[in-house]
Amino acid sequence: MATIAHLSQRTPTVSIEELLAGFHPSYRFGEVSFETYRPDPSAPSQAEAVTKLKHFASHIGAAKGGFLGKLFGKKKTHKSGIYLDGGFGVGKTHLLASLWHLAPGRKAFGTFVEYTNLVGALSFRQTVEVLSTYSLVCIDEFELDDPGDTVLMSRLMRELSDAGVKIAATSNTLPGALGEGRFAAVDFQREIKVLAEQFDVHRVDGVDFRHRGLPDAPDPLEDSTIEVFAKERYGDKAFAIDEFSELAEHLSKVHPSRYRALIGDTDVLVLHNVETITEQSVALRFVVLADRLYDKDVPIVASGKPFSELFTPEMMAGGYQKKYFRAVSRLTALAREGQAGEPAL
Ligand SMILES: Nc1ncnc2c1ncn2[C@@H]1O[C@H](COP(=O)(O)OP(=O)(O)O)[C@@H](O)[C@H]1O
Ligand SMILES: [Mg+2]
Repeated sequence: MATIAHLSQRTPTVSIEELLAGFHPSYRFGEVSFETYRPDPSAPSQAEAVTKLKHFASHIGAAKGGFLGKLFGKKKTHKSGIYLDGGFGVGKTHLLASLWHLAPGRKAFGTFVEYTNLVGALSFRQTVEVLSTYSLVCIDEFELDDPGDTVLMSRLMRELSDAGVKIAATSNTLPGALGEGRFAAVDFQREIKVLAEQFDVHRVDGVDFRHRGLPDAPDPLEDSTIEVFAKERYGDKAFAIDEFSELAEHLSKVHPSRYRALIGDTDVLVLHNVETITEQSVALRFVVLADRLYDKDVPIVASGKPFSELFTPEMMAGGYQKKYFRAVSRLTALAREGQAGEPAL
């Protein structure tokens, strides 16, 4: 029997242990490896990334330096961090997750936002204390929308690096250029420069693996048909059925670090009457929900506006455009999966 729930009626709580236990690659990247990464022969930096990351992996967990190491001044021959920069879909997350899977010891894998949420939940000190016991911390999708968060993460990374923790990060811009043109504060740039020096920076070139020859967003379905359509297609699955406006409103009442728990065991999301979001705070929360849905590979069957119109043109051209493009691309892929049966890469 199919089960039916309403995400807009769930208010999950998450303990610190549960929060930390969530710091591993998402379902989508649960089994990836350097072997399943297929470097594009026309972009040599992809094969180079694999070589560099494997080399980096071989130093993880070996000598954490520690007090004696520092006292007798063993010279560091390699950097404590590796940083992959590149466009969307060239496989940065795939590579980062592959590193995580290969690395020995305790290791954490999360997005930049998840780490800032962790600091919010645990406090800075406690986060440093906990993560200092790890051999590897992977930070996916380094973001610089907020100078406060950037300084916070930069401090966190420095303290972890001092504690001998290896750090691997990805982002869409070079650390030295992060935030450029948006925040000119001298302190902010100094933070970033210090950070950049600790990292071996590697640029991954290539085209978006997901967008090779993929069709556009499917036309939204007639509202009265979507539940029947979803049930015919997915039969026995766990459905979440929500009114778009109610779900968007409900997101303001649940902390984004709990959206994974909010989605819970949902297999298929049926979304009635998608509208264009006009408020930035609502839009940003929806971006996080889209990420969590994509992580779990939850197909979507929707009516109303196509996801390409989820955000206003002003939003798509503004400071958060990267997030919005990512959300549209991910939701479109999930809708294509839900409505046309194409797997969402
Ligand atoms: N070279 C590649 N070989 C195999 N799969 C790839 C490759 N590049 C990307 N992918 C797959 O394409 C999807 C998008 O890649 P992802 O790692 O999320 O890109 P990025 O993080 O750079 O935006 C993932 O499912 C990933 O496994
Ligand atoms: Mg990525």
